[in-house]
Amino acid sequence: MRRVEAPEVPLAPSFLRTASVRISLKGRAMPRKIKVAQVSDVAPGEGKIVQADGEQIALFNVGGRFYAIHNTCLHRGGPLGEGELDETTVTCPWHGWQYDVATGANVRNPAVKVASFNVKVEGADVLVELP
Ligand code: FES
Repeated sequence: MRRVEAPEVPLAPSFLRTASVRISLKGRAMPRKIKVAQVSDVAPGEGKIVQADGEQIALFNVGGRFYAIHNTCLHRGGPLGEGELDETTVTCPWHGWQYDVATGANVRNPAVKVASFNVKVEGADVLVELP
């Protein structure tokens, strides 16, 4: 029996593929992968504040694995990307609140969380997935 190849059909109309929020076929918003840094920009054990689509994000390198959380501390808005990193715990430079960079959860009260984002490394590029 001869197999017939289906013609290539776009998965969504072009206006959905180019809009700032793309919608999957199941009706959910698709995450946007945004390049925020090069791997060499953030040394192991360090953090850096990066921009992604107007958001300030704290990007951390924990032993070669990258994590991203929102940069703004929930206490008084301190810059978490400038905090001291110890394993996966970052300490806010302003008053010392601590967060797990893998989850965004406050160390003393895990119910208090900053947003965390998936991070992908593609070649030398570090990309953050925004909802
Ligand atoms: S602003 Fe972060 S601990 Fe106060």
